[in-house]
This record gives sequence, structure tokens and C-alpha cells, in this order.
Amino acid sequence: MPDVLIARAETSTPLILMSEAGFGDLSDEALKGLAKGQDFKGQNGRILFETGPTGQVSRVIAGVGKTPTDPMHARWLASRLPGGDYELADVPDGLDTDLFAHGWAEGAYLFDRYKARPERGRARLVVGDGPGIQAARAVAAASLLVREMVDTPAQDMGPLQIETIAHEIAQAHGARLTVTTGEALLEENYPAIHAVGRAASPERAPRLIEIGWNLDQDALPLVALVGKGVVFDSGGLDIKGAAGMRHMKKDMGGAAHVLALARLIMQAELKVRLVVLVAAVENAISGNAFRPGDILRTRKGLTIEVGNTDAEGRVVLSDALARASEYSPDLTVDFATLTGAARIALGPDLPPYYTDDEDLADAIRVAATACHDPVWRMPLWAGYREAVSADIADVRNDAAEWSLAGSVTAALFLQRFAPDTGAWVHLDVFAWNNRARPGWPMGGAAQGLRTMFRVVADRFGR
Ligand code: BES
Ligand code: MN
Ligand code: ZN
Repeated sequence: MPDVLIARAETSTPLILMSEAGFGDLSDEALKGLAKGQDFKGQNGRILFETGPTGQVSRVIAGVGKTPTDPMHARWLASRLPGGDYELADVPDGLDTDLFAHGWAEGAYLFDRYKARPERGRARLVVGDGPGIQAARAVAAASLLVREMVDTPAQDMGPLQIETIAHEIAQAHGARLTVTTGEALLEENYPAIHAVGRAASPERAPRLIEIGWNLDQDALPLVALVGKGVVFDSGGLDIKGAAGMRHMKKDMGGAAHVLALARLIMQAELKVRLVVLVAAVENAISGNAFRPGDILRTRKGLTIEVGNTDAEGRVVLSDALARASEYSPDLTVDFATLTGAARIALGPDLPPYYTDDEDLADAIRVAATACHDPVWRMPLWAGYREAVSADIADVRNDAAEWSLAGSVTAALFLQRFAPDTGAWVHLDVFAWNNRARPGWPMGGAAQGLRTMFRVVADRFGR
């Protein structure tokens, strides 16, 4: 990604954010005349180009309607303005310019890796080099990493590619990387990850990717991040229909989120020990695929009766969460594109989170608002626990039909394997924008990433 946030520029085009109210107060007669001719009144999403004597753009006036302090206006602006350098001429009271810069980077993102035509010139934003901007840059880069990993088709984002990205992140920060692949998963006691991933072709063998950072610093609190990295979810033998399978390259979205979050934590040098666990598998179909009715052993010792091979995420996460438990973490965060039911409950833009820790739940709620990165709490409703218990095994992966609450019961399944030390939160993310708008193309989306970074940073100090 080219860097669209630049510290300074020799010349830049002034950018004015104009609300409808601000337009009413305008005293610049020349500008008012120009606006009148183009029916511009500060309406949200409208752009007015003021030109100088030689025809070059001298100022850009962007309509922001009734929400002059919403930093995410930067997204549509960055996606629609012609290539060049822009700088906010003045900052509306209450606008967070660091978030505005973040929004700009998001809006300028263009996934053109597979396009033959050269990339278009980007609109760049002059942001200076204040302390906040470095952080905004890091957070934006983390979000774009998620989007890029999710947007990359499964053919080029297999378990090995996820391992490579994890390796690069670990290496950049002096962290230790361990990868357990293929038959070694059985030797090292990750039977559930092996069972789900074993049907993939050998070069796409299942693996558990583990990063450890600061682990020798015993006095520091330990944070565990756990991600679902299903590089493609065909559904397995319980094969999905065409519409349901269409976007399943994004089923490694949880892995992308935890790798991006891990990078942020290490870049910020938070005072924590960090363990990252990514279960990277392909849910494929082959003669050795796991089957409905199979009963799987897990690392924790509990057995899983497979009701449906399409509920594979919770199966691989069972081993990864059991591994996390072995570190007795103070905080465990998992991200997973776990259920379609989460979308039924809350739609595509509002991922549910689950935790029994009230302090953590409150911290997440507050951070989500502050970061403009919404998530919504749903309950680990104990009354539905029996929905995931099985007749001839310890748990079942598909939940009893009567329970209906698919995202809740998936979370209750994970709870059986989550660490019992410290606090645990599970985010059931969509990792996808399915409603294309300027600055919000259809494709991968980071959800709850900024929020969880803020939560971890606030909890454990910067
Ligand atoms: N990866 C899917 C869930 C998913 C689907 C997330 C669409 C986002 C968008 C998951 O592995 C899955 O298939 N879940 C099933 C579970 C069911 C078989 C119990 C689902 O949600 O239908
Ligand atoms: Mn599935
Ligand atoms: Zn899945």
C-alpha cells in the first residue's frame, strides 16, 4: 500500500469540511455564488471544487451534512478526490484529526493486486508528524492488513501464507514463532485442528501457528490472542450451497485480526507477555475428510460429536483455546468468523462480543464508542448450555435445534474450552463489508480491532 498519510508537502490543496449549518453562516460571496450554481449547501457527500485563474483546483469544499465531527467522512473523500496532496484548512471543533487520518487511509485502500491496469493516483493527506499521528498510522496499517488478507483469494492465502505473514510480524519484533503442521499436530496433541484440516492438499496442510513475545518477563500480565484461520470454508462434507460458499475466502478473518492486533501490541511495546495462536486450516472435501457423526478427541480431553462439518471453526478453536489455557492468561481474546447467525442477530456491521467479565464488557463498550469501531455485547446465556452437550460425546459442534441462538451457542461451545484464568472475550466477526459505498468497497473489513487494541492498551498501560 502506498502511504497516503504524509507529514508535509510543498504545496497542497486546502480541504474544507462544510456542514449545512456552516454553509448557512458563510460570508465568502464568491464561494456562495459558486455553490449556488452547483446547488451545494453542505449536503453530506457533496464535493465542490473551487478553481483558480489558471483552472487549477484552489480549494475543495466537502459537504458533511449534519455531522461535521464524524472522522469517517475521510473515507469517502479519500476514495473520490483526484490524486494529489490535500490538507485540512481548518479543523471543525470536536473533530479527531488522528481518526480522520485513519479514515483517510481506509478510504484510499484499493485492492488492485489482480488488476491489469495501473493503480490510480491516490489522494494524500498532509498530517504533520505529531505524536498521535504515528499511532493512527500504525492502527490504519493494522486495519489494512486485515482487509488485504481477507481480500486475497484462498488460492493465494492458504495456511502457509498465513504462516509467512505471522513469521514476518514475529521477526520484526523479536518474537518467537512455532508452527506445528500436518502429522505433527497429532504428535503434539492438536487432534481437532488436524481432523478439520487433514482433507486439504499437502501443501495446504493444517497448522497451529504460535507466536510468543516477552515470555521471559514473568512479572508482566499475559495476553493470549486466538484466531480462526479457515482459509476456505467449503462446509466440508456438509457442503455449503453456492451463495453461502461464495465469500468463504474470508473465513480466516479472525486470524487476520489477531495478527494485526498482535503487531499493534508489539509496536506499541505494551507491558505484556503476548501469546498468539492461529489455527490455519482449509475445510476441504476429500476421502479423509472428517464426517458428520465422527467423534473427535481434543487437546483439552473433551470429545466433540460432529453434528455438522460446517461448524468447523469452533472445532479448531477448541484446541487453540486449550493451548492458550496452558499459559494461564490474564486476558484471552479470540476473533472468529464463527457463525452466520451473528449476522442474523446484528447485521453485517455490528459484531457481537461475549464475555462473563463485567469490567471487561464495560471497557469494551466504552472503547468501541471512543474508537468509532462498534461491537455489541451478547450473552453467554447459561440457560442454553445444554444445547451444546452431546449424547455420546462430551459436546456437539452444531447445537440442538431447539436453541436457535446460533451465535450464542457457538460462544457457549467455545466457553467449554476457554481458559478459566483471567478474563476471556470472544468476537464473532463478519470481517466483510457487503454494502459498497464510496470509501467502503465490498470486501474485507476490520471489526473490533481498534476497540480491542484500546482495551488492551488501557488495561495494561502503554
Ligand atoms: N464460517 C462459517 C460462518 C459464517 C458464514 C461467517 C457466513 C460469516 C458469514 C461457519 O464455519 C459456519 O459455516 N457456521 C455454520 C454453523 C452451523 C453449521 C451450526 C453457520 O453459521 O451456518
Ligand atoms: Mn463452516
Ligand atoms: Zn467457517
